[in-house]
Amino acid sequence: MLEIKLLDLDDEAAVDAYTDVRMAVDPRSNRAWAVASLWEPNPDFAEVVRLVALEDGAGVGITSVGLLDGVNAELAVGTVTVHPEHLRRGIGTALLDALLPQLHARGATRFEGWGVIRGSAGEQWALARGFRIAAARVLQRLTIAEPPDVPVPAGYRVEQWIGAAPEHLLASVATTRQSVHDAPATTSELQEPEWTPESVRADEAEAREAGAEQRVVVAVEEATGLVVALTDVPVHAGDTTDTFWGTTVVVPAHRGRGLALAVKARMVRWLRADRPELERVDTGTDAANTHMIRVNEQLGFVVNREVSVVSRSC
Ligand SMILES: CC(C)(COP(=O)(O)OP(=O)(O)OC[C@H]1O[C@@H](n2cnc3c(N)ncnc32)[C@H](O)[C@@H]1OP(=O)(O)O)[C@@H](O)C(=O)NCCC(=O)NCCS
Repeated sequence: MLEIKLLDLDDEAAVDAYTDVRMAVDPRSNRAWAVASLWEPNPDFAEVVRLVALEDGAGVGITSVGLLDGVNAELAVGTVTVHPEHLRRGIGTALLDALLPQLHARGATRFEGWGVIRGSAGEQWALARGFRIAAARVLQRLTIAEPPDVPVPAGYRVEQWIGAAPEHLLASVATTRQSVHDAPATTSELQEPEWTPESVRADEAEAREAGAEQRVVVAVEEATGLVVALTDVPVHAGDTTDTFWGTTVVVPAHRGRGLALAVKARMVRWLRADRPELERVDTGTDAANTHMIRVNEQLGFVVNREVSVVSRSC
């Protein structure tokens, strides 16, 4: 008989069953790491809802869904995953039916999956289960090596810090981050916050509290002393060999001058020097954002997956 329950991290048998599904889907993953990651705080989410589907005590499916906060407080993002030996038996549907009320009870009105492989069974399933495709994204992966020697364009200097922006750059950091609203429009429910000096400080504090080391590289225009380009990599507490790139943004008047490439190349060089154990960095970009994809290619990123963002009400 199929039993679906919320994952209790103190229930060893349930954690084992949950991890079995993760391992079956990705046999290269490491069990100890998979279990440890369940305990790690994630600064992106206010709460993570995990369900495990059991058949005679064995794990046959799981869900892991994060509830966002701030302007995205009504959005939940995550995945429904069925053990490859138990597909097409309605387990995915049963997990979704159990999940949606859990999300709704916590204030979410939308559920999105951000990593559904384009053209996959997962996409077919989502379309059959009331999701619509909200965006197309490209996931690129960099195997860390010496980046190309990119000169900083004349008239700019590059600065870097971990955690808090220096007070004298704070206002222009907020203005620069605000330009992320120019990214290609999608019908995903995910919204960027309004970036102000206060919200920059709040974001820094959130990352700090979750134990993330937020590395930031900026380009400052020499003539004005203002930040006009920024990139960040929030290295989470459990990231040893792999991490995920954060945001990269250049204010409109300074685009097309190679600043994104310059700040990202500096970031790669910095990570290489400071975190030599890091082997890979992944990044996700809207498929329409050809400039960002091209910059990543120049740095040595290669396309790893093409994915759909799927979205439905809950
Ligand atoms: C998506 C996933 C969870 C589906 O699990 P499942 O238990 O096999 O799905 P169900 O049995 O509930 O399928 C329900 C319906 O979805 C559709 N569907 C599911 N798999 C499909 C496939 N391979 N091709 C076409 N349609 C499919 C069908 O309409 C199916 O109904 P049917 O079997 O009566 O035809 C599973 O394929 C999986 O784990 N994929 C990897 C993770 C992923 O991509 N998740 C996406 C959602 S976040």
